[in-house]
Amino acid sequence: MTRAPFIPPSPSEEAYSADADQGEVFTKDEPFELFSQWLALAAKSEPNDPNAMALATADKDGLPDVRMVLLKDADPSGLTFYTNTESAKGRQLAENPKAAIVFHWKTIRRQVRFRGTIAQVKPEEADAYFATRARGSKIGAWASAQSRPLEGRFALEKQVAVKAAHFGLGEVPRPPHWTGFRLTPLQIEFWVNRPFRLHDRLQFTRSDASAPWTTRHLYP
Ligand SMILES: Cc1cc2nc3c(=O)[nH]c(=O)nc-3n(C[C@H](O)[C@H](O)[C@H](O)COP(=O)(O)O)c2cc1C
Repeated sequence: MTRAPFIPPSPSEEAYSADADQGEVFTKDEPFELFSQWLALAAKSEPNDPNAMALATADKDGLPDVRMVLLKDADPSGLTFYTNTESAKGRQLAENPKAAIVFHWKTIRRQVRFRGTIAQVKPEEADAYFATRARGSKIGAWASAQSRPLEGRFALEKQVAVKAAHFGLGEVPRPPHWTGFRLTPLQIEFWVNRPFRLHDRLQFTRSDASAPWTTRHLYP
């Protein structure tokens, strides 16, 4: 299965100027292929983290929340990110396993939005990704009680030292409270800046994850 960051942009997208109309940009019929192409293009010009995305969740009362996370995998099964299950977002997703995600790449003036359902990835998948992380990040995942009150920076540094001493030179396993979540989209919208705010929007929708996509263009 093709992974998002490695699909090169089409030659027509290379010829891009920030102020000019970007020409045809909806160059794929399949939304994940199109997303991969846009992400690869953004990766060429974004100053950092082209895979940064805003993740919106809502608690059981429907109160929305939003924060940035990093996309770690994207394929037709969905978008994957990693976090602490006991964080605010982790608790919200346990109460209400639905979310929305938006990417905005300023350098190419494009936006992609996703809405759908959320599920945790399989433990083996999370283990495999955790194993690729730097040792310091692994220790950090054990040391951080993400989203809970912190008495001071020293308390965090102490936890890092405690966990580092605990694991010594041995393997650092994945903490039980740290895993991946995958958003399976039922709606994906591609937006591109056009002159005079006459932007182009292409929306893909499907009734469930196994249904075919239908597309429509939306007024800006
Ligand atoms: C660019 C960027 C990327 C981030 N990536 C992640 C991430 O992948 N996972 C994560 O748990 N937090 C990430 N964070 C931190 C979150 O935005 C947030 O502060 C943290 O997850 C706690 O959120 P919560 O209290 O809503 O659960 C990132 C922040 C920024 C600015």
